[in-house]
Amino acid sequence: MIARPFWSLAAVCVWSLGTISAANAASARPVAAEKGMVVSAQHLATEIGVDILKRGGSAVDAAVAVGYALAVVYPAAGNLGGGGFMTILFADGRKTFLDFRERAPRAASRDMYLDKDGNVIKGLSTIGWLAAGVPGTVSGLEYARKKYGTMTREALIEPAIKLAEDGFILDQGDVDMLESATEDFRRFPATAAIFLNNGQPFLAGQRLVQRDLADTLRSIGKQGVDGFYGGETGAAIVKASRAGGGIIDQEDLNRYTVRELPPLECDYRSYHLISAPPPSSGGVAICEMLNILEGYSLRQLGWGSAQALHYEIEAMRHAFADRSGLLGDPDFTGNPSQKLIDRGYAAKIRDAIKPDKAGISSDIAQGVAPHEGSNTTHFSIVDDVGTAVSMTYTLNDWFGARVVASGTGVLMNDEMDDFTPNPGAANSYGALSGEANAIAPGKTPRSSMSPTIITKDSKLALVLGTPGGSKIITAVLQTILNLIDFEMNIQEAVDAPRIHQQWLPDTTNVEKYALSPDSRKVLEGMGHRLEDSQPANHLAAIIVGAPSLGGKAIGRNRYYGANDPRGGTGLAGGY
Ligand code: DON
Repeated sequence: MIARPFWSLAAVCVWSLGTISAANAASARPVAAEKGMVVSAQHLATEIGVDILKRGGSAVDAAVAVGYALAVVYPAAGNLGGGGFMTILFADGRKTFLDFRERAPRAASRDMYLDKDGNVIKGLSTIGWLAAGVPGTVSGLEYARKKYGTMTREALIEPAIKLAEDGFILDQGDVDMLESATEDFRRFPATAAIFLNNGQPFLAGQRLVQRDLADTLRSIGKQGVDGFYGGETGAAIVKASRAGGGIIDQEDLNRYTVRELPPLECDYRSYHLISAPPPSSGGVAICEMLNILEGYSLRQLGWGSAQALHYEIEAMRHAFADRSGLLGDPDFTGNPSQKLIDRGYAAKIRDAIKPDKAGISSDIAQGVAPHEGSNTTHFSIVDDVGTAVSMTYTLNDWFGARVVASGTGVLMNDEMDDFTPNPGAANSYGALSGEANAIAPGKTPRSSMSPTIITKDSKLALVLGTPGGSKIITAVLQTILNLIDFEMNIQEAVDAPRIHQQWLPDTTNVEKYALSPDSRKVLEGMGHRLEDSQPANHLAAIIVGAPSLGGKAIGRNRYYGANDPRGGTGLAGGY
């Protein structure tokens, strides 16, 4: 089932069924389904996921198939050469978190991106082989499948092989994605050979064939992780890395292992959040912000009111100050996660937030209360028995480091840019970070990725996540607030314009139409500095039971999916 404009045919039936209240905004209807739902950033990948569910596969099986498929049909962020996180809630209440994010190669060093004067060398951590961390995606997908899946590797990888081998017809959204990196592709012949059409950008209606990638997928299908980290593929990655000035060697590839961690959990009003622990900063920051905001009556203040926005901005400012300096790979740094998500800590921060005055970011000291002082992809899946998978994975920037090892079709990540190259300096999202996130061999860079699942009374209620660098954290937060506090339905909650504040720079980004002129005036009067911003997220969300929390089901449908209209290629689909 495909999303339709709310005011066409859907308006009539939903209205007369009385399933969605008259307070609804002008959003498309959420996509409704009875047995299973997949929301991903590329429609072909969504269809593959739905097909796996229909064939009796679990949400984990579908996630593995979608993960491989997006590596083919969404090459800007779907990947084999990157890494990510998977949050799983099983129908019986068990929950887990898989960290298959990249690790720094053994030869990495703290100052590898600095010149002799200690300045960061521009581009070194974002483009080319030295930018790449040891990829984790194939290990992650295989770990999930082996431990929690029910279907064979061959069955789950086969649809991706077919899409790579036969190619797929590019829509305008796919072409727009490729076109954004044309100049970078031209710098690397092995990349240009795949993503340019005889040196020119692809056009809508043309077919993108990736035969080398099909071969790599086939060898993973036959040999599992060894088909990627070992054999010809592993050797090709090591060879290309060495030739391109990188430092990944065979031993780095051999040593890669997935970490299975307890998720980061907290409560907000009557809901329970299950999200990403460090090395992500996402779960901690979202919980810290929710704890702060729980003390305000956002519902009464109203969505888009200057006062509600003021409290949201201040919560973001404080949580990002903590996130920026204190969080990193748990094997290397003692993350004060429990302190930061403590309700008493949040209460002290609330005491420091003035109701009528913007805070000053440079006055905020990290971890001291009261504080005085765009590319990735996410998909959400729920199956018939109610197991939910929330997975975000990435190459970091669009098309990662833009490099491919010849013969593999595998784009490599530039995840090393998520480390702090020079503690105190900003990464490409403008966020500052400290010692906790300094580079070290074998270490994982801190992430913002926040694949999240929410329950109520121990029952699955929501699955959500998004790309967007540091804006991941605030987009997930606002979607939760839109649903819980502002009582929107899932599509409205995803569509609603967003704001973003990340401590430094001390400006709040505002999407178009997020602020009415008078709200803007009130906020500026409080001292907030506001700046227009382009949409950065592509949220994928599923709600269980009804289109809105506590709402009424439409017919027999149990699942309602929302694809973010900010992306041009995604789809919510169910059966
Ligand atoms: O892990 C992280 O936080 C980043 N590498 C994510 C990058 C991202 O989301 C860019 N997307 N638009």
